[in-house]
Amino acid sequence: MLKAVKVGVPRELKDNEYRVAITPAGVRELVVCGHDVMIEHDAGRGSSIGDDEYRRAGATIVPDPDTVFGEADLVLKVKEPVPEEFPRLRRGSILFTYLHLAASEEVTRALIDSGVTGVAYETVELDDGSLPLLAPMSEVAGRMAPQVGAVTLEREHGGRGVLLGGVSGVRPARVVVIGCGMAGQNAAWIAQGMEAEVVVLDRNINKLRDIDRIHQGKILTLASNRLTVEEAVISADLVIGAVLVPGARAPRLVTEEVVKEMRPGAVLVDISIDQGGCFETSHMTTHSDPTYVVHDVVHYCVGNMPGAVPHTSTYALTNATLEYVVALANKGLIDAVREDPALAKGVNVHAGHVTYEPVAEAHGLNAVPLADVL
Ligand SMILES: NC(=O)c1ccc[n+]([C@@H]2O[C@H](COP(=O)([O-])OP(=O)(O)OC[C@H]3O[C@@H](n4cnc5c(N)ncnc54)[C@H](O)[C@@H]3O)[C@@H](O)[C@H]2O)c1
Repeated sequence: MLKAVKVGVPRELKDNEYRVAITPAGVRELVVCGHDVMIEHDAGRGSSIGDDEYRRAGATIVPDPDTVFGEADLVLKVKEPVPEEFPRLRRGSILFTYLHLAASEEVTRALIDSGVTGVAYETVELDDGSLPLLAPMSEVAGRMAPQVGAVTLEREHGGRGVLLGGVSGVRPARVVVIGCGMAGQNAAWIAQGMEAEVVVLDRNINKLRDIDRIHQGKILTLASNRLTVEEAVISADLVIGAVLVPGARAPRLVTEEVVKEMRPGAVLVDISIDQGGCFETSHMTTHSDPTYVVHDVVHYCVGNMPGAVPHTSTYALTNATLEYVVALANKGLIDAVREDPALAKGVNVHAGHVTYEPVAEAHGLNAVPLADVL
């Protein structure tokens, strides 16, 4: 017989965060397993999911975050807690969310002091090194890139006035995608679907083989090296940067000199900006002021692209988190992490100890092996 667990979902408080950590489908899964789900009033509003939808799926709607954090054994969030939430964190409860603790000593300290168990979406890692709870956001950003690129190419938005798909008898836009991972392959796919002329570059030839096999020549693949990148970028109407070197700053593959040689009104979308960007002229922008111009080239460098489409992003994120949420609720922390090494890597802080080495290193603390503190 399973022990019923109380699962709580507060409304996100971080500026401009409209996602929510569960969908009605997730509520139903947990309720069928015998758990109680509490959702803070209006938590889904930013993602266009109403309280009634959660109620119909079996959740209880509660009026305030104190009830959620105070009563839940497992709290699901999207972003790391903000200072207003620190006093609500409780020893003995689990907080499952994006934490990015290496980037914030303040949040790390708050988690340590509270004694809560902090499980980070971004450090859940499969055997092959892939990050299943980051991938959905790369997929969203990749699919958005041709869409924002197409609008930015319009004259009124500073672009060179080229219609992405062209029309009969007129060349379409040439879209160059650098990096053919989760974000890049989705960007290429959507751009090709919009009937642009699409070129993708990667230094991993196997990724290019996959593109050839799937798209059968409709997307041109090129091995990434300095000269090929330069030539492709200079001839492009829209360049989408989607490279990642795990654990490192994004490589700057396009220098300012090359940007100078691009066509006036060409557009760069730097998806990799959250890792520093792959164009020398990139700097982070926001949804409220997404573009700027350098050497007549329009740059779009929004660091949280999925934030523009919170409904889709919420569903994409929670589709990926749900199996881990159900495992934590059904098995409890100890059995869930013992049976799943990928989830064990997600545990960053437990009972006042940092258990994830890179976070401890970032703040000059000693990491304690998870097995020693469970
Ligand atoms: N801006 C946003 O809102 C947003 C949202 C989600 C993800 N991202 C970022 O998008 C980037 C891509 O993420 P992903 O999940 O697609 O990563 P991924 O690991 O799936 O793919 C990265 C690809 O880059 C390739 N690459 C590395 N060095 C290269 C080089 N020199 N030339 C060509 N290709 C090279 C790799 O071989 C790999 O195929 C990351 O920096 C990620 O953080 C940004």
